[in-house]
Order: sequence, then structure tokens, then C-alpha cells
Amino acid sequence: MNQRRELPDWEQLYQEKNVESMPWFNPDLDPDLDQALTQLNLHSSTALDLGTEPGTQALALAQRGFQITATALSATAIQKAQRLAQEKGLDISWKQDDILNNTLNQEFNDEG
Ligand SMILES: C[S@@+](CC[C@H](N)C(=O)[O-])C[C@H]1O[C@@H](n2cnc3c(N)ncnc32)[C@H](O)[C@@H]1O
Repeated sequence: MNQRRELPDWEQLYQEKNVESMPWFNPDLDPDLDQALTQLNLHSSTALDLGTEPGTQALALAQRGFQITATALSATAIQKAQRLAQEKGLDISWKQDDILNNTLNQEFNDEG
């Protein structure tokens, strides 16, 4: 069966709701990502977090010493995440960008 799901208006959603109320909000590093980093013995590197909102994974990775570029559709969500990063003293490169038509001109690969 081929069911199409309506996607939300992401910008409106992040303007109207607290990120903490969103089902995908996880203030800690995702356990699968944590496990993968351990298995790969990765402690610091550059990383790209696409669709980062609310930015918790980017923040958690930056806290571990990763150099993060984090992109998302919603300018509002980016601003909120940016404020949080500033409060925590974390230097993350936040960019408002569409995965489907991205404007990134940086390369990300396993050689850093
Ligand atoms: C389910 S949330 C996951 C958020 C985040 N990756 C996390 O793990 O907490 C999906 C996110 O992708 C973003 N998104 C959806 N379509 C996008 C697109 N075309 N370009 C960039 N971000 C997009 C949404 O704004 C939303 O915040």
C-alpha cells in the first residue's frame, strides 16, 4: 500500500511550539549514534547534521569535541539552537538550508 504522509510546515511548527514538546526531542546524544561513535572509535572529527532542528544532536556532538555544521529548514529553529549553543559556549556552524536543494560548498568525508 502506498500511503503519502503530509509533512508539517516546519518553520511554522518551530515558531509555534516549544521544541521540548516535539516527539523527536532528545536532549542527549542518540544511543545508536553514541554506539556507532564508540564502535568506530571516533572522538572528534568534522560532522554534518542535516535537518538538525532542534539541534540537540549537534550540541551533544560539539560537547564531545566534534566540529559541527548543522543545517535545517527553519530559520526560527536555527536561531533557538544558536542561542542554546551560545549559552553552552559551543561553537557550531548553523546554516538555514534545504537538504533537497542545498547550498553547502564544503566537503564532508571520512578524512575530515
Ligand atoms: C524528525 S525531525 C529530526 C530532527 C533532528 N535530526 C533530531 O534528530 O533531533 C526532522 C527535521 O528535519 C527537518 N527537515 C525536513 N525537511 C527538510 C529539508 N528539506 N531540509 C532541511 N531540513 C529538513 C525538519 O525541519 C525537522 O526538524
